[in-house]
Amino acid sequence: MEKCAIVTGSSSGLGLEITKSLLFAGHTVFGGSRSGTEIEHDNFYDVELDITSEESVEEFYETVREFTDVIHLVVNNAGMCEMSPLTEMETETFEMHLATNTIGPFLMFKHLEPFIVKEETHIISILSTAAHYGYPNVAGYNASKFGQLGLIESLKKEWKNHKVRFTNLFPGAIDTPLWDKMGPKFGREKMLKTSDFMSVFNYLLHAPPSIQFPEITFLHREGYLE
Ligand SMILES: NC(=O)c1ccc[n+]([C@@H]2O[C@H](COP(=O)([O-])OP(=O)(O)OC[C@H]3O[C@@H](n4cnc5c(N)ncnc54)[C@H](OP(=O)(O)O)[C@@H]3O)[C@@H](O)[C@H]2O)c1
Repeated sequence: MEKCAIVTGSSSGLGLEITKSLLFAGHTVFGGSRSGTEIEHDNFYDVELDITSEESVEEFYETVREFTDVIHLVVNNAGMCEMSPLTEMETETFEMHLATNTIGPFLMFKHLEPFIVKEETHIISILSTAAHYGYPNVAGYNASKFGQLGLIESLKKEWKNHKVRFTNLFPGAIDTPLWDKMGPKFGREKMLKTSDFMSVFNYLLHAPPSIQFPEITFLHREGYLE
């Protein structure tokens, strides 16, 4: 049976590479983002999505429903990060982290349940080492990723009877467009490459479905980027 996947944040960085990889592996992919992608593929649906808006999330799922009633894989990937000392961070910026990285996944999961296939649906969340390790100058990012982890851990228990497989990925810094606005302080040579990330993701994707990977933490061999 053809597998149907949702990827949030499919327009850039990891989400874009994940989408390409899933299409290559034969999945039908519903990609959600505000800016869209240039991917042209018979099995790709580029759907407008602002995960901070419940109306937009509902419209996203209405579009998905036109094509399928079942989702086998969710890649919970969309996210944002801005860097500044806490005392200099605008309150709106802190709130935007929570809206995107915590409330966004909450809304996506809230409206996902009717599409779940018992014992099959797999939810892979691209969290971050920042979901369990504090970094300076990213209070909004840290708080929102810790929050996202909390909501997933609660949902795991709630959806126990669905036998959903949950995989939480905790990668360290990866050289993607996320870093373009953060200035030259951080050398890209001490970050994972997108291809490093994809080797872990593809391993997961192709592993037998009888295996569970609840958590995977992986970093550049030089360690945490601070
Ligand atoms: N790069 C790293 O060092 C790193 C490390 C660990 C974890 N991560 C996590 O990996 C994920 C992907 O990051 P990336 O590095 O690939 O960053 P990226 O290149 O900046 O991509 C972020 C993606 O999220 C989407 N997005 C942001 N706000 C959104 C919204 N309101 N509604 C819908 N989509 C939204 C963006 O799409 P639009 O702007 O088109 O909406 C874009 O496709 C994030 O959750 C990030 O926290 C990244």
